[in-house]
Amino acid sequence: MARGKSHTNLDEAFLALPDYWSPRVVAAANGQYVKVAKVKGEFVWHAHADEDEFFLVRKGALTIRYRDRPEVVLREGDFHVVPKGVEHMPVAADECWVVLVEPAATKHTGNTVSLITRTIEEQTAHLR
Ligand code: NI
Repeated sequence: MARGKSHTNLDEAFLALPDYWSPRVVAAANGQYVKVAKVKGEFVWHAHADEDEFFLVRKGALTIRYRDRPEVVLREGDFHVVPKGVEHMPVAADECWVVLVEPAATKHTGNTVSLITRTIEEQTAHLR
C-alpha cells in the first residue's frame, strides 16, 4: 500500500483532502485500513453490521450521535469505538480531522447509500 503518492505524515494527508466526508486510505495493516477524513456538518445515519469502527480526532471536535444511547463528544486527541451493528451519525459543527481504523471491507456509510457514499476505489484512488 505504501507506494507512490501515499503520505507518511498525518497532517499532510489531511491537508491533501479535497472534500469533506470523502475519506482516503493512508495505510493498510493486517486487513485494516487507516483512513483520514475531513468532516463538517452532518453525515448520514448508518450502521456497519460486521465491523467496529475506530475514530480518533486529530483536530476540532466530533459528535457521534446514537439512536439507542447517549451521544459521544470527541475533542482533539480523543478516540472512540463505534460497536458493530449500532446505528450512528457523526456530526461536526466546524471542520474536524478524523482518523478512522476499520477492516478493509467496511463501507463508510454502512448499508446506507447516499450521494456522499465513496467507494473503496475512490478512497484509494490517490495511491495508484
Ligand atoms: Ni460509521
